[in-house]
Amino acid sequence: MPRKEIRLSHSWEFSLGNKTPEEALHGGDSFYPVQVPHDWSMDYPFDKDAECGGAGGYVKTGVGWYRRKLDINPADKDKVFYLRFDGVYMDSTVYLNGKKIGGHYYGYTPFTIDISEYIDFDAENILCVKVDNSAQPNSRWYSGSGITRDVWLVALNPIHIAEYGIFAKTVSVSKNSAVVEVMTEIEGPEVARSINVRTVMRTADSKQVNVYGLGRGVVVDGKAQVSHTVGVPRPRLWSVDDPYLYSITVSLCSGDELLDEKTIRFGIREIEWTPDKGFILNGKQTKLLGGCIHHDGGGVGAAVPIKVWKRRLEKLKLMGMNALRMAHNPPDPALLDLCDEMGFLVMDEVFDEWTIVKDTKAFMAQDKISHGYGEHFFENYREDTEMFIRRDRNHPSIVIWSVGNEVVEQISLDGHLIAKELVEICHNLDDTRPVTVGCDFIAAEPIGTYEEFLNALDVVGYNYPDRWRERSATFYDIDKMKHPEWIFIGTETGGVRGGIRGEYTFEVPSLKKGETPLALLGKPAPYWLNQVTAERQIKYFMTRDFVAGDFMWTAIDHLGECRWPRVTAPVGLLDTCGFEKDNYWFYKSIWRKDEPFVYVLPHWSLNLEHGRIIPVIAYTSCEEVELFLNGKSYGVKSYEFPAYGRAITQFGMQKIKNYTTDDLHLSWDVPYEPGIIEVVGYIDGEEVARCVRKTVSEPVKLDISTYEEPKMQPDGMDIVQIEISALDKDGNFVPYADTNIHVDVEGAGTLLAFDNGDPRDSSGYRTNEKRLFNGRALLTIRSKQEAGVCTVSVTGTDMETQVLQIEVYE
Ligand code: GAL
Repeated sequence: MPRKEIRLSHSWEFSLGNKTPEEALHGGDSFYPVQVPHDWSMDYPFDKDAECGGAGGYVKTGVGWYRRKLDINPADKDKVFYLRFDGVYMDSTVYLNGKKIGGHYYGYTPFTIDISEYIDFDAENILCVKVDNSAQPNSRWYSGSGITRDVWLVALNPIHIAEYGIFAKTVSVSKNSAVVEVMTEIEGPEVARSINVRTVMRTADSKQVNVYGLGRGVVVDGKAQVSHTVGVPRPRLWSVDDPYLYSITVSLCSGDELLDEKTIRFGIREIEWTPDKGFILNGKQTKLLGGCIHHDGGGVGAAVPIKVWKRRLEKLKLMGMNALRMAHNPPDPALLDLCDEMGFLVMDEVFDEWTIVKDTKAFMAQDKISHGYGEHFFENYREDTEMFIRRDRNHPSIVIWSVGNEVVEQISLDGHLIAKELVEICHNLDDTRPVTVGCDFIAAEPIGTYEEFLNALDVVGYNYPDRWRERSATFYDIDKMKHPEWIFIGTETGGVRGGIRGEYTFEVPSLKKGETPLALLGKPAPYWLNQVTAERQIKYFMTRDFVAGDFMWTAIDHLGECRWPRVTAPVGLLDTCGFEKDNYWFYKSIWRKDEPFVYVLPHWSLNLEHGRIIPVIAYTSCEEVELFLNGKSYGVKSYEFPAYGRAITQFGMQKIKNYTTDDLHLSWDVPYEPGIIEVVGYIDGEEVARCVRKTVSEPVKLDISTYEEPKMQPDGMDIVQIEISALDKDGNFVPYADTNIHVDVEGAGTLLAFDNGDPRDSSGYRTNEKRLFNGRALLTIRSKQEAGVCTVSVTGTDMETQVLQIEVYE
């Protein structure tokens, strides 16, 4: 093969602490073996005095060094060699054989170094990478530290396809045919000499589909650009429900010699953003039912095996979520591949700061000055934005770019100039997608985002538009009236603040004498009030055609952005383990009307006096729900959304359904008594769903089950996720269990993370001991580089050991 791309996952060593390049070159005892991706912040305990404070998640940061031998074949002397880093957090400097050869500041964009001239073909080649995450705090959320994404060694012919040098876009689509343009950038000496470029598009099962491929070439700045227009008959379109992917292979030949060949995946789809109908996918108005996510994977930190994302995204998809916003930085490219495969619509975002650094004091024990990206914006923004677009522009999942989140420049005099420039960079590299910024002031506010700023964007993005005084009820209607030409999207809005999984507050928090409302910040609301704000929000954007959609904050709990004793931010629908909270079922009830179900909360093993009246809440996609407590009915209730008006039937003007509430949930006031609480869902008067909760007894055994098949590749990278839950003597789930668990892992695997989803558990994730949190925990096991069997033994205090065997095979 003319092109070799080798993933450098193993044989790395790491040492925390500063040293000279010379010391790093020679290695020594302070270095310990690691594999890449690696996040050293997860290797050390949480510490409430950590330099990064609560913003960064109370973890070890500092300076770290990586070293590794590079295996270079002397027979490849005539090749060029590149090192590509998918992401190093942060401020890295790269050395080969002790010589500095490059570096990169931003922790979330990739970078590539041409190492050809530094390679010694007659001796060992030692690669060292210094990672400097010591300027703390520098992030408002958990960043992790280290080489947190893949590293690639690429060996190529001197004439080759440039890095991220293939750009494919759909030019037109109809039922009978699609036209795709594939632009390839070629670099190397004498690129202008005659090179044959071939572009072949194939179906997922490798059948060639293009009927013609017309080429056209130009040379720009020493690089040749060749465009092919490819015709595809009867295209199968990429969509949320059918995320069909083609492949495109570009080959460079000189005479009979194959110089380079690269394959990318591509989805044919048509997107349109309009002021009246919002977002249109393949001709169909499609609301973005979205959630924001950060880049961490819970207990695995910032080095996230793709199966962690897969499990989380599968759950979100089942809930009916169809869109994700990558808050607030370019994600691991593997996550975008997954979104392509699973049919998520993605808002890809590049920055949280421009020139003005954001304050993280709210999350710091000490008063420290922040050292965010803004300190180095001017040196880096152009290259980072270009990298971001070039890397990601072939993903069919990405439907919109965001160049900023709540940047302070939205209300600065010259902010619009920066906005314009960033938008222009995006447009120059990709003329197929619009650009937005998540702005946290609507234009209509007295101190609102400047209209000049918003006019610089293709789509107006609003974060929390319902938090501004009397605008709370009208969101951005007033802006739409003034600017009918604007296209809107809710880039961020409070979801159901689900809080902590399995916890229920029964008291309404009140202000003590002399306290301001700020004293209520962070105090949980009673569970029956949780959905109120989200309901208003949902009703707003679901019934306004001009709003393209909305991204709730957040889909999944993230590390950091918290105050001790918390080490994570419990604002998601899934906790850091990926376990569903009640609010998950709330959204599902609205977004998955196709699936009849009913869900009831709270659980029924409460420590409450008998007879106390408490609200019982149900979420449902059914027409009606009846509640029973210990067999006694508390009545049938229903809600309707979207609400139907009247229709003419054979009986005259009729209301289609009767409903009892205007909320998007149902509620009954019930005197608490132990036993069985049950909700039954009806459609057309027939029972179609039922949810039962019992008052359970003490936990006596564990249930362990793997999310995926208990099999792993012996590549040292593959994982299996094991869900642990506590059961009582009758096999009922115990929703309050906090049993101590001990885990032993033997054979062909190791323990990668042990998490329970409790934001206040600062005992760390690389541990064999953990307590269950509200009945559950998640264990992540990683394969070794050897085939065999991995035996996982899980023991709860005074409980029988459960043993699971994972096959690790070729
Ligand atoms: C938003 C911000 C998010 C997160 C959130 C917390 O304003 O964009 O990054 O900090 O607040 O509520």
